[in-house]
Amino acid sequence: MTPGRPYRNIALIGFMGVGKSTVGALAASLLNFELIDTDKLIEERTGRRVADIFATDGEPAFRALESALVVELESARGKVIATGGGLPMTPGNLESLQRHAYVVCLWASVETIYQRVRHQSHRPLLQTADPVERIRELLTLRSPVYRQADFLLGVDYRSPAESARSIVGAFRQATAAHPELHALA
Ligand code: S3P
Repeated sequence: MTPGRPYRNIALIGFMGVGKSTVGALAASLLNFELIDTDKLIEERTGRRVADIFATDGEPAFRALESALVVELESARGKVIATGGGLPMTPGNLESLQRHAYVVCLWASVETIYQRVRHQSHRPLLQTADPVERIRELLTLRSPVYRQADFLLGVDYRSPAESARSIVGAFRQATAAHPELHALA
């Protein structure tokens, strides 16, 4: 851990379909934290679906909404923040999360991801002829960023409840090691 980093929140990063929202909700309830799901919050505030924002305004417009939300979250405390899969790829976003959150990456294999997303149609980036290849490409591009998390958790063989318990355990250890930094007052 970087000395001096406060952990007021937990941020979940990772690829589409790894279970950030589900695991995030469970971890939030174990900690008595509030869940913030960035995709959901953007949808609530704009009154539009993520897929519609991508289709009508383009991906850069969606990324700008994500980045604005990331800045706003710098003052959050007691939150589990489940991020959209591409959010940490925009320059500055991961650094911003690292300033206040214990960053956890949920990691799954290409095959697991594909099995989880194959019957879903709300993710514009995977609406291609060869989604497996697309997942592989994007994962390769994103993994150097995802790997910068404080805690990397493989979810291929873990249930959401097990993942949530692991995250809470790791978070408690990290905050117990530096109670003076655990600024949850
Ligand atoms: C995206 C992931 C999605 C959503 C958007 C773009 C990505 O969120 O933000 O479709 O770039 O990986 P989930 O990771 O919750 O599916």
